[in-house]
Amino acid sequence: MQMLNKLELPEYIETETCYAVRRKHEHNTEMLEAIDKNRVFLREFLFWVDKTKSIDDVKNATNMFIASWNNGENYAYAIFNKDNKLIGSIDLHEINSFDRNGEFGYWLAPEENGKGHISRLLQKIEKMAFEKGLVRIYIRCDVANLPSNRVCKRNGYVFEGCLKKALNTYGEFHDCNLYAKTI
Ligand SMILES: CC(C)(COP(=O)(O)OP(=O)(O)OC[C@H]1O[C@@H](n2cnc3c(N)ncnc32)[C@H](O)[C@@H]1OP(=O)(O)O)[C@@H](O)C(=O)NCCC(=O)NCCS
Repeated sequence: MQMLNKLELPEYIETETCYAVRRKHEHNTEMLEAIDKNRVFLREFLFWVDKTKSIDDVKNATNMFIASWNNGENYAYAIFNKDNKLIGSIDLHEINSFDRNGEFGYWLAPEENGKGHISRLLQKIEKMAFEKGLVRIYIRCDVANLPSNRVCKRNGYVFEGCLKKALNTYGEFHDCNLYAKTI
């Protein structure tokens, strides 16, 4: 059974409205500012927000993203708008080279919602990932997270089911919709 080679996704991806750059330490300060500014919005559906409080927390996360990029398990990008402002992140993580699947995660500052940034990046990254050998990409989102459920449906991810009480959101156990795209 052939294992997947490292995906080797590009470190820079551009779309009509934004660009994504491999997570690096030079993004740490701006990343923390974006998280701090949007803490209430982000924490509703992202488990890591409350434990990302200081610049050291962001540095530790970036170290993890650098290592997991290098070993082919997680391709994490910071997203910038065309004014070069950091506006969010997207990553293809949980890459399993035996089963050849991976999971998308993403967030955007609220003022950058509704412009199609994530959908555009999703399409570009998934195309490359499928070309390089993945056979399945999945997205898990809280049933109450209507924008994220819309991202999945709009981009052709098929609803596979609802995982009951599968998300621990700060001690509350929420139902989780599972979507996937396969080739
Ligand atoms: C989930 C989240 C990233 C969705 O952001 P988003 O801006 O709605 O998603 P996209 O960037 O794909 O943009 C799609 C929106 O832009 C609009 N749009 C405009 N031009 C578009 C284009 N060319 N292509 C696609 N959509 C476009 C769409 O109509 C859609 O708006 P709608 O859902 O109100 O109809 C954002 O709400 C978020 O960060 N939430 C908090 C963190 C979070 O929940 N992360 C996901 C955890 S699973």
